[in-house]
Amino acid sequence: MRVIIFGGSGSFGTAMTKKLLEKSTCDIVIFSRNEKLQFEHRERIGKSERVRYIIGDIRDYDRVYEALEGIDYVLLASAMKHIDKCESNPNECRKTNIDGCINVINASIERNVKKLVFLSTDKATNPSTIYGCSKLFVEMYCKCVDNKNTEIIRTRYGNVFGSNGSVAWIFEKLSKEGKKLTVTNPDMTRFFMSISEAVDLVWKALREGVHGDLWVYNNKSCIIKEVADMFSKDQEIIGTRCVEKTDEALLTVNELRHSELLEDKYYRVNDSIENDYGYINPFTSDNAERLSKEELENMVNEWRKSL
Ligand SMILES: NC(=O)c1ccc[n+]([C@@H]2O[C@H](COP(=O)([O-])OP(=O)(O)OC[C@H]3O[C@@H](n4cnc5c(N)ncnc54)[C@H](OP(=O)(O)O)[C@@H]3O)[C@@H](O)[C@H]2O)c1
Repeated sequence: MRVIIFGGSGSFGTAMTKKLLEKSTCDIVIFSRNEKLQFEHRERIGKSERVRYIIGDIRDYDRVYEALEGIDYVLLASAMKHIDKCESNPNECRKTNIDGCINVINASIERNVKKLVFLSTDKATNPSTIYGCSKLFVEMYCKCVDNKNTEIIRTRYGNVFGSNGSVAWIFEKLSKEGKKLTVTNPDMTRFFMSISEAVDLVWKALREGVHGDLWVYNNKSCIIKEVADMFSKDQEIIGTRCVEKTDEALLTVNELRHSELLEDKYYRVNDSIENDYGYINPFTSDNAERLSKEELENMVNEWRKSL
């Protein structure tokens, strides 16, 4: 069995490769652009005969098609994911997050891949940014594309604590330099999870998901001040930027109406599921269960150990 991870050299891809090496016997292909990231990936997972590396850009359909030869399962993690960079380079965001992802989806269908899992984000739920819109478009494309043989499953989750470019890095840097932490709005709520929880969600969706599914992590949340306090109490409030929401959402009311909660951990959304909940609220970081201080501390420790 062969799995390819588009964007396999990133935070998610590295953790997923470790899990696949440990829990399965499959061969793994890592597809991404930057040689240095692929070198670092190899350093992190240790040399393995089962892992092969391909340099390529998902914007290039022919290269993607070539890489998919003999592949059974596809994980689609490649993305431009920094909100500010996407806002200031909207066409670059479109080329990677929309056109590139559509290349991967179409080429996977063309190659009769068994299953494809697309990684999306809470920012795609009622999006307020170009990044969120690009992810939502591809979520919809996954559901609507004409396709008979490839099962396409979408996943959606909140902020992975300490992933590339996350707030943890900024807070850690500022506190180490003895500077005030810059906090936009201390009362803002956000979903946070560990990288292993993100990997578990995608793993579960890969094994159990069926075509048309959207798998969403039953994420806990916290207020930003609690995260900042883990690094330093010396903080400066700088105000919310206009693209930032006060709270994020993982499921709309309509999606909740077509969902089931599995093992209290994962929502599976599918048009075929019908629930009559009466009046309900969307699943937001404001009304989600809050992370305890101990859970937050564990997340920070897991991240520091992984450095
Ligand atoms: N991190 C989070 O908090 C979070 C939360 C929810 C959802 N997600 C989603 O999860 C996925 C993985 O996130 P991550 O944290 O692992 O991101 P990451 O660490 O930034 O990794 C992104 C990966 O995508 C590759 N990539 C970027 N542009 C590419 C292109 N044009 N062609 C081929 N590969 C490309 C990167 O390698 P090169 O630059 O070398 O190509 C890298 O391997 C993303 O789709 C993201 O939207 C992340």
